[in-house]
Amino acid sequence: MRIAVTGASSYSGKYIARRLLGRSEDVINLSGHPQRPDPFQGRARTFALDFSHSAGLARNLAGAEVLVNTYWVRFDRSGNTQAKAVKNTGVLVDAAKKALVKRIVHISITNPSMESQLPYFRGKAENERLVVESGMSYAILRPTVLFGREDILINNIAWLLRKLPIFGLPGDGSYRLSPVHVDDLAVLAEQAVYRDENQVFDAVGPQEFTFREVVSLIGRAIGCERPLIPLPPRLALRMADFLGGLVGDVMLTADELEGLMANLLTSREPPRGRTSLADWLAENRRTVGAQYASELARHY
Ligand SMILES: NC(=O)c1ccc[n+]([C@@H]2O[C@H](COP(=O)([O-])OP(=O)(O)OC[C@H]3O[C@@H](n4cnc5c(N)ncnc54)[C@H](OP(=O)(O)O)[C@@H]3O)[C@@H](O)[C@H]2O)c1
Repeated sequence: MRIAVTGASSYSGKYIARRLLGRSEDVINLSGHPQRPDPFQGRARTFALDFSHSAGLARNLAGAEVLVNTYWVRFDRSGNTQAKAVKNTGVLVDAAKKALVKRIVHISITNPSMESQLPYFRGKAENERLVVESGMSYAILRPTVLFGREDILINNIAWLLRKLPIFGLPGDGSYRLSPVHVDDLAVLAEQAVYRDENQVFDAVGPQEFTFREVVSLIGRAIGCERPLIPLPPRLALRMADFLGGLVGDVMLTADELEGLMANLLTSREPPRGRTSLADWLAENRRTVGAQYASELARHY
């Protein structure tokens, strides 16, 4: 079966594509960076994920039975906004319909809402609506923070702990999150590819932590336990801006922090991810946070 995966040379899409290639499926990669080194040595043909050319997108999707969509925009930057991401998702969904794709497996976020004041969570709800109204059968998977080798958030917390003598917590760090391993998400996406019925479910890890616990866990695992200093969220954001400036990245946005502090990265559903963050950190203690992972370098 031909299966199109957006971002198969990027992060979660790569794990999903790897699993589908492991089943000898004909995987095609739709990438915003088609020149990026191919992680699959030619086993997944790569095409441009070019939203300005919807007929071309439909041509690239021809023959695909399933589209696995990981496309997102993390935060607004120049013209690349959440509103644009919704528009682009519409273009992609229309192209899939034109190409007679039968099913879409769409990666979203926990707790999306049309009523949210946060553009990311509202945009994700709008994207879900586009998928639901597409007429294709669908599976919508709603993960929380992903962890894995190419991860950004957990990795950069580790990087900060390695570099600095103290760690500034936004607020008291009591807000909660349930990180999920990227390959656990890939397993769920893989399973969803072969179903027919419409599905919407959360994809969260086996443990829920406070943010403070996550930082402590990372510090212990890498041997860099630091005093965790509660800071007013605005001050923490200023520090993140300052440090982001030093590494030429955006470390954390006000909207991301608001979503995190509002416990939007948790779920009321039973966990579907199996990998324990503590075990994964123990296995990867030498590499996690050894290098800074830059969102801007990756996507801009
Ligand atoms: N990462 C997390 O911690 C996390 C947490 C919760 C939910 N999610 C959701 O999981 C899905 C996949 O996340 P991921 O981290 O695995 O994504 P990713 O691999 O970094 O990117 C997925 C796709 O989106 C494209 N993309 C990302 N940022 C872009 C930008 N600023 N402008 C244009 N295209 C952009 C990528 O383009 P290229 O092909 O050029 O790489 C790729 O095709 C998303 O829907 C996200 O909302 C992620």
